[in-house]
Amino acid sequence: MDEFFYKDALDYTRFCMGKSYCFRLIEDPTVIVACFTVSNDSIRIFDLGSSKKNRMWKEISNREKRLSRYPGILIGRLAISKDFAHQGIGSDVVRFVKEWFVDEDNKSGCRLAIVDAKNSSHVLSFYEKNGFKFLFKTEEDEYSYMHIHERESREKSLHKLNTRLMYCDLLSEV
Ligand SMILES: CC(C)(COP(=O)(O)OP(=O)(O)OC[C@H]1O[C@@H](n2cnc3c(N)ncnc32)[C@H](O)[C@@H]1OP(=O)(O)O)[C@@H](O)C(=O)NCCC(=O)NCCS
Repeated sequence: MDEFFYKDALDYTRFCMGKSYCFRLIEDPTVIVACFTVSNDSIRIFDLGSSKKNRMWKEISNREKRLSRYPGILIGRLAISKDFAHQGIGSDVVRFVKEWFVDEDNKSGCRLAIVDAKNSSHVLSFYEKNGFKFLFKTEEDEYSYMHIHERESREKSLHKLNTRLMYCDLLSEV
């Protein structure tokens, strides 16, 4: 993560692939507390399979038109400095990003917050505590979906994924 923010974040910004931000200490702005990167994304639900599609429609669309693709903001990277970990700052940053993109002044429609979360129990439970749900209940389902056109998807063996796709409905938060 350090390497990304030191080396790649500026290129991501320059080539419009993701914008990075940081929070710094007011009393010493050289101290970085938290960094995150956001970019536009969406969750395509038309090819999720009928039960998952219906579950998401039920969750997300009450009265409004049901879409086959829901726009969202991808929190591509998020890192809290080790000196400030486990103080609720990561959760504060996630809340900040959600509020930022559901705000009525936001210039584009944004219904979901999306993360491709590192597949470790600490990170997954962090996002679950912050209101995110798994798009796929099992890794096997997610693997099959991601590799839908590949031969391996026909094999039923479980493949360890590096990341898990999670989402949060921003309107359920306000
Ligand atoms: C994942 C990460 C962003 C979490 O940041 P954080 O600031 O430590 O998160 P929070 O403090 O909000 O929550 C983490 C824990 O602190 C606890 N906590 C929250 N407020 C607290 C407080 N005031 N005092 C003590 N503990 C607190 C939470 O309950 C949570 O407990 P858990 O570890 O048992 O789940 C951080 O660990 C990180 O930068 N990891 C490396 C990069 C990474 O993996 N990023 C995610 C990639 S998708």
